[in-house]
Amino acid sequence: MQTRRIGDVRVSAIGLGAMPMSIEGRPDEGRSIATIHAALDAGVTLIDTADAYHLKQGEVGHNETLIARALVTYGGDTSDVLIATKGGHLRPGGGSWTLNGSPSHLKDACEASLKRLGVDAIGLYQYHRPDPRVPYAESIGAIRDLLDEGKIRMAGISNADPAHIRQANDILGGRLVSVQNQFSPAFRSSERELRLCDQLGVAFLPWSPLGGISRAGDLGAAHTGFNRVAQVHGVSPQRVCLAWMLARAPAVIPIPGSSRPGTIRDSAAAPDLILTDDELAELDAG
Ligand SMILES: NC(=O)c1ccc[n+]([C@@H]2O[C@H](COP(=O)([O-])OP(=O)(O)OC[C@H]3O[C@@H](n4cnc5c(N)ncnc54)[C@H](OP(=O)(O)O)[C@@H]3O)[C@@H](O)[C@H]2O)c1
Repeated sequence: MQTRRIGDVRVSAIGLGAMPMSIEGRPDEGRSIATIHAALDAGVTLIDTADAYHLKQGEVGHNETLIARALVTYGGDTSDVLIATKGGHLRPGGGSWTLNGSPSHLKDACEASLKRLGVDAIGLYQYHRPDPRVPYAESIGAIRDLLDEGKIRMAGISNADPAHIRQANDILGGRLVSVQNQFSPAFRSSERELRLCDQLGVAFLPWSPLGGISRAGDLGAAHTGFNRVAQVHGVSPQRVCLAWMLARAPAVIPIPGSSRPGTIRDSAAAPDLILTDDELAELDAG
């Protein structure tokens, strides 16, 4: 698998989005573990998660625990796997999403994630989403403290606009390594953040790159250009989508969600799919 850079760490050009294995419609644990193992077998060394990826009240961190268990039970070497988790979002009743960007919450949430992941320091910790009730500088100040204390090795942000990116990078003393925003064929308004990340040398991680859990299967039907190019190459439209994203800039590292081995294996082959300039132009247009 080709690699890309997050901070000083080389990771696979495609990451695994682990959310579908813990929220509505999630599979049983056996299939989830098999999916994570299939990702590792395919050379995936970036796994994206969050403490809020769970279903029921009382199971905060379900997704982090699942990943930790999958790494322990994997037969091979996992020392180069980067786990990227997040804090600042919550699902108190299991269903609806709420925010808490207070420094005390972020520090407590980080401690809890450290324990669930069973590590001394979290590889990449991302502030999940700005909380309008807390000044952004205060939330990012907490992330800076976690970096300075060695609780996290790298810091990222999510759901950020260009002003957030510049402000976070300033507060972190130039140590911002990643931005995770929604970006897909149907949702392209994060293009300006993608370009800014590319300029700054910060990784850009598109979330819901295939359109989201409930729409990913219809990508080819909804975006016929992706279907046409897929047919030319004899691959899935989802693989074309990920190859198109990778071609946008070296900063881009898509994190397609998966809950079955077959889909992550298919996505992991995207870096090997080389699209022509004409194909990229067609996909850019629609
Ligand atoms: N920062 C944030 O606020 C935020 C928000 C949402 C998501 N995220 C992160 O981004 C990740 C990805 O987003 P997402 O899971 O919402 O949506 P997504 O990646 O657009 O779509 C996920 C769905 O795509 C299907 N899929 C994956 N690869 C495929 C392939 N090659 N061919 C056909 N279908 C394929 C999977 O199906 P199967 O389930 O059948 O495998 C999965 O359910 C999440 O897992 C999470 O880590 C972050």
